[in-house]
Amino acid sequence: MSHEQEQDNPKALVVVSNRLPVTLQRSDTGQWEVHSSTGGLVTALVPLLGKRKGMWIGWPGILEETNVDKLLKVASQARGYILKPVILTPEEVNKHYFGFSNQIIWPLFHDLQSRCNFDPAYWSAYKAVNHKFAQTIIENTMADDFIWIQDYHLILVGRVLRSMGMDSKLGFFLHTPFPPPEMFIKLPWRSQIIEALLEYDLVGFQTLRDRNNFLHCIEAMLKGHHVDARRQLVTITSRRRETVVGSFPISIDFREFAQQAASKDVANATRQLRNAIPDRKIVLGVDRLDYSKGIPEKLRAFRNALKRFHEIRRKISLIQIVVPSREDIPEYKVLRAEIEGLVSEINGKFTTPGWIPVHYMFRSLPRTELLAYYRAADIALVTPLKDGMNLVSKEYCVARTDKDGVLILSEFAGAASQLHRDSLIVNPYDVEGVADAIVRAYHMSTDERQWRMRRLRKSIAKRDVFWWVSCFLQAAGFNS
Ligand code: UDP
Ligand code: G6P
Repeated sequence: MSHEQEQDNPKALVVVSNRLPVTLQRSDTGQWEVHSSTGGLVTALVPLLGKRKGMWIGWPGILEETNVDKLLKVASQARGYILKPVILTPEEVNKHYFGFSNQIIWPLFHDLQSRCNFDPAYWSAYKAVNHKFAQTIIENTMADDFIWIQDYHLILVGRVLRSMGMDSKLGFFLHTPFPPPEMFIKLPWRSQIIEALLEYDLVGFQTLRDRNNFLHCIEAMLKGHHVDARRQLVTITSRRRETVVGSFPISIDFREFAQQAASKDVANATRQLRNAIPDRKIVLGVDRLDYSKGIPEKLRAFRNALKRFHEIRRKISLIQIVVPSREDIPEYKVLRAEIEGLVSEINGKFTTPGWIPVHYMFRSLPRTELLAYYRAADIALVTPLKDGMNLVSKEYCVARTDKDGVLILSEFAGAASQLHRDSLIVNPYDVEGVADAIVRAYHMSTDERQWRMRRLRKSIAKRDVFWWVSCFLQAAGFNS
């Protein structure tokens, strides 16, 4: 093992994810620059990584030949923790990331089996890339470090590490849903995946539903194990080890989000937005381009609302932001065309002078602009067909520091298990039901909107992303 960390350090935290929490971009002068990512996971873990001389291992996200090691060494010094790259070939990215991860596990775990492409070549690449990650971990960590693997791209890493003789504590957190047995057993490599998960000391899921699905899969598929489910944390004893399994709903940095949302820049941008769409209720959708997000279904529901409820015409507009994602996968290209076709169909049918029903953007927004959209929106329409958590729903509520606004939320988002009481819960497949919810939100009294939003914000404040990290690490026995 390497000794980048000194021998007498207390045990360190090592986070491993498919993507490093930085992006490498070329500047105008052609120099490579390292930019930090802004997600909640990064915000929550960076202080801990700094404190515990930690390390983050992941793919740097570029395929071009560069001196990544040197660039990241400099970036690590500035950040106070080590960024360690796993370099992948274009073929590995193609078959591991676009292939097994995003054309097999992603759709299957979102209950969309018909979208799976069970190409055996993807499985070989998945194994090889997980092996590469494990090798990097072995070479760069100390015996009693706590290794925390993130998400579906890297399920096998724990198993490979064990086969290499590693005995450190290993934790795994799945950010996506976990499917029920009748879905999971379709996976040709189901046994390898289930057995690999039992090589971890702690496995975390987003919700109790996901945790229970996993336990049901174990029941259905494995023999010779014992499950102790008397407590919130379940212990599975198999021949090789004890694995603790729990649900840990991820969240965002409430304080930072609320503070930014209340800033002058955001207030100015919000005013400009409101002035551009005056005297009209704004319904907002913010989704990565993904079939799991239910964007066409949402557009059909909005069209249905305009068709059936004439009183909202000219009085409401949907702003749909779609963030580009995974476009090398044909299904995502087809989805984009479907969304854009629906947007133009709705606008073609309903637009009148001075009113555009759907404002559509296909790009990623800077944080200030995104917050301004959240603040300007009277209604957030979050209708994934299935989602591990859905942070957009939480971000919308936290950004509404004026404690107003309505959240319409899919019952199939992980966030619904926490926010169901005070949002308007919908079945995203039910076009008329979602349309009815839009109209209900449109007519909701100020008083009702405000008490609902207050309670939503309170619940998110109580369980922010720092709470999530500390619950997971505590369950792992890692003293943060
Ligand atoms: N987001 C972003 N750029 C944008 C719009 C949104 O980075 O232009 C962020 C958003 O703030 C949120 C994340 O993307 O934190 C989406 O997370 P979510 O859990 O809702 O869905 P995911 O994309 O992870 O499936
Ligand atoms: C989901 C996954 C993450 C992933 C993110 C963006 O939230 O759980 O692991 O990083 O989507 O997807 P991408 O394919 O761009 O990394």
